[in-house]
Amino acid sequence: MTQPLPQLDAGGRLRHLITLDGLDPGLIRELLDRAQAYQRPPGQPPPRGDDLRGWTVANLFAEPSTRTRASFELAAVRLGADVINLDVMLSSRVKGESIIDTIYTLEAMQVDVFVVRDAEPGIIEFIARHVGGHVSVISGGEAHVSHPTQGLLDALTIRQHKGDLRGLTVTIVGDIRHSRVARSAHRAFTALGVGELRLVAPPEMMPEPQEFEGARRHVSFDEGIRGADVVMMLRIQKERITVAKPTDIERYHENYGLTAARLATAKPQAIVMHPGPMNRGVEITSEVADGPQSVIRRQVANGVAMRMAVLAHIADARRRRAP
Ligand code: NCD
Repeated sequence: MTQPLPQLDAGGRLRHLITLDGLDPGLIRELLDRAQAYQRPPGQPPPRGDDLRGWTVANLFAEPSTRTRASFELAAVRLGADVINLDVMLSSRVKGESIIDTIYTLEAMQVDVFVVRDAEPGIIEFIARHVGGHVSVISGGEAHVSHPTQGLLDALTIRQHKGDLRGLTVTIVGDIRHSRVARSAHRAFTALGVGELRLVAPPEMMPEPQEFEGARRHVSFDEGIRGADVVMMLRIQKERITVAKPTDIERYHENYGLTAARLATAKPQAIVMHPGPMNRGVEITSEVADGPQSVIRRQVANGVAMRMAVLAHIADARRRRAP
């Protein structure tokens, strides 16, 4: 058995960010506060800093990404770093070069931080165990397992609109079984003391019973949305579904699509979230996605701030280790 990855350094600061599992709520709050400080009123230029001046950040994405990759890039650039984006699907990995050789190659070019998205569970931690002492690894999404910065930005979004998570009812709806977003949301919301977490999904998209400790499960959307403060919709993760029978999309929409009529049964001021990419007309109607209760674009904006906060924290931690 390998030891659990120490993502924290001796001072309790993040050296890597691979998972939210076991992270101290105090550290999560500190990261959210740091991201909050990067908020600017609409129309104002984005915040900048020089926390990463002289650093090089490499984005290594082996799965498609729009928001996560763009926001990590902007976050790093706005903190003064040089950034390279490597499409690992197109790079030498397909020529048989192992991922570790790719990492070593880039390390030789003095990369300080690797942001990695991969479909293989465990690979990001594996990379973190192989990088040099001063190098950090941040997950940009690991298979169905975890998506820590997404969990943090979702928590930040809820906090901005609803205040403290304690006492709130949060309903996550859709293909939870295959969702890394839901898994990291569960970690983040639980650490922050969420009042009630509900999972709504058809039986084949419900996670295994031992997962999502403390959450209530509902096969009926109408039951699970009643009185919710937050409704988080998820896409069907077709790329991770291996069963032969394709989902009947019309039926899925009828049973699990968020419409204005369904939303009316949540709390009057309930907010609607979605990590993107959305399938309009499937899990959510355009009326709701673009409606007054939607905070979906706010999530995107928070993605940049949250990733700036994580990068700046990691840079601070490194300076403290080796001033
Ligand atoms: C998600 C992802 O890739 O995990 N998107 C994101 O990062 N914002 C969700 C998805 O692919 O459905």
